[in-house]
Amino acid sequence: MSHPIIFDTDPGVDDAQAIAIALRHPEIDLLGLTTTYGNVDVETATHNALLLSELAGREIPVAQGAAAPLVKARHPPPAHIHGTNGLGDIELPPVQGKADPRSAAQFIVDTLNARPGEVTLVAVGPVGNLAAALQLDPTIIGKVKRVVIMGGSIREGGNVTPVAEANMFNDPDAAARVLTAGWPLTLVGLDVTHRCVLTGEHMARIEAGQGALGKVLAGSYGFYRDFYREFLGIDGCCPHDSCALAWLLRPELFTTSRGHLTVATAGDAEGQTIFAPEGRGFIETRWSRTPLVEVCLGVDGEAVSDWIADTLA
Ligand code: RIB
Ligand code: CA
Repeated sequence: MSHPIIFDTDPGVDDAQAIAIALRHPEIDLLGLTTTYGNVDVETATHNALLLSELAGREIPVAQGAAAPLVKARHPPPAHIHGTNGLGDIELPPVQGKADPRSAAQFIVDTLNARPGEVTLVAVGPVGNLAAALQLDPTIIGKVKRVVIMGGSIREGGNVTPVAEANMFNDPDAAARVLTAGWPLTLVGLDVTHRCVLTGEHMARIEAGQGALGKVLAGSYGFYRDFYREFLGIDGCCPHDSCALAWLLRPELFTTSRGHLTVATAGDAEGQTIFAPEGRGFIETRWSRTPLVEVCLGVDGEAVSDWIADTLA
């Protein structure tokens, strides 16, 4: 079965790995890449999306989107994690292609309207483009097949603050709208992405299998791995964004739970995703007023990491 998807992204080293999967996997029909600020500014994100497609020999529409959060001030991009160019500061070949003239939000709205019920929206950066698309055309709620978001954390704690994951923290106001919109939604958060580690051996296989694209993936991985080693004491990297695609194609590797999500938009808990399991009563009922969604709580991390390497080898 082929999955038509739009991939919303802020590439980003782990985004680049996921884009490579979206470009290469025979069961994915990549309809477009939409870009957002996050790991880098949005112009760099667009440049990298175009570059990665060209290196894979594909002409995929790339539509540029959010340059900043909806409400809060933008934090500087995390250059110590992804490099200033988002791809580990390795030297990059020139890009030939140009971005689609439409905004990311318009591209999402047009694509979902053209193929109602068919298209999955996979978002792996701050979710401002999804919030903007909802504002442009709220009827897309009933037209998207599913929204899969890499972001948030149910029990794992955060990676930017003790409670907040980066994509949620970068635009909590957008996240609050997107996670409670009432469309079919699966959250793939740190509870599962932290259980997956892409090792040097995995990456050597990917480099060998992907030609010019493999060189960029492996070069940028080296920079990203230094961050993991220094700050987290892990020998390898968490392939956060690829996990969203792993869930889409290999859901049997994950365990999920249904419930209600809320996103804290201000204060110490800013960006925290708060989960109220389905059917569990609380004295304060507001936690259960948001629409039901699905969250990933468990994963076979080794199998997912192997699946990523096998896909790209
Ligand atoms: O928290 C992990 C997420 O933050 C990933 O999407 C990664 O690319 C960074 O943006
Ligand atoms: Ca990302």
